[in-house]
Amino acid sequence: MKNKVLITGLNSIIGKEVFRYLARHTQTKIVVGQRHDPDLPLQDAEYRYLDFNDVKSFQETLIGIETVFLIIPRHIHQIEHSFSSFIDACKSSGVSRIIFSSVYRGKFSVILPHHKVEKLIRKSGIDYVIVQATYFMQNLTTFFKREIQEDQKIAIPHLSRKMNWIDARNVGDAIVNLIYKFDDYKNQTIPLMGNENKNFMEVTAKLTATLPKDVVYNATFKEFVKSLKRKGLEYKEISLLVLFMMLERLDYKTEIHPNYEKITGKKPTRLIEFIMRHLPDLEPANNE
Ligand SMILES: NC(=O)c1ccc[n+]([C@@H]2O[C@H](COP(=O)([O-])OP(=O)(O)OC[C@H]3O[C@@H](n4cnc5c(N)ncnc54)[C@H](OP(=O)(O)O)[C@@H]3O)[C@@H](O)[C@H]2O)c1
Repeated sequence: MKNKVLITGLNSIIGKEVFRYLARHTQTKIVVGQRHDPDLPLQDAEYRYLDFNDVKSFQETLIGIETVFLIIPRHIHQIEHSFSSFIDACKSSGVSRIIFSSVYRGKFSVILPHHKVEKLIRKSGIDYVIVQATYFMQNLTTFFKREIQEDQKIAIPHLSRKMNWIDARNVGDAIVNLIYKFDDYKNQTIPLMGNENKNFMEVTAKLTATLPKDVVYNATFKEFVKSLKRKGLEYKEISLLVLFMMLERLDYKTEIHPNYEKITGKKPTRLIEFIMRHLPDLEPANNE
């Protein structure tokens, strides 16, 4: 019988990439857990209802599942309660492996909910791999897309701090490798990074070099908060994000862990390659 892997958050940046790579492995049966029936591009994949806000949905979703790929979506009302119930349900349903998409552990990431979920997983007794990926390049083509296309501006306050950028496609590739090499990485927490630490000035310089109009960054905090509201973030999320950004400025860690290369044997995508791949998504809406 095929090994059943449950993918949560199929439509998240990372969920799509895990699906893309896992779909290439015919020895695995993909089960997608989400709130609505998706139009799956793979005949053999199965859909099951899962809502992290609806604890009653968990048990049925998990029947026969061996491995869970877990993300934390936004808008979960009580993260600790939902995820502790979900992990308990994993245990009672006989799930033997969890791969959790967390965030890169900076000095101050304890304020993020991922930290709590990591603790729940480590305590659960289920074998796990926690993947702590850095900042997805795909934020340029999702979170910042509209302002790059319409205003040629990234509304982010002046922060000269460099951060590490990774292609979520690389993260998906690494995660699928981890599913198949699980025993080599069992019960480990793996930082996953690209090869480049860049600040927003450097990123907009690359966008300017490749797009027909100059792209700038920099915004006052007021403009930044306004742009976050426009993107649909709630007050609580905005406060947490602003606090996290302020704290992160005090974290000067610049080391790069070459785990992507170690796990997949490939070099991570460079930012310029990512931009070239996504030129049509970033070109000005009005190119006059
Ligand atoms: N963004 C980054 O730079 C970054 C970097 C490193 C790690 N990560 C991690 O990667 C993961 C994904 O992040 P993201 O920003 O791409 O996620 P996201 O956009 O917040 O996730 C959206 C996904 O979650 C599903 N979802 C939403 N509410 C749900 C609910 N109540 N029950 C079940 N499913 C629900 C959505 O399904 P629908 O289709 O139904 O809406 C969609 O598939 C997170 O764990 C995040 O922390 C992100």
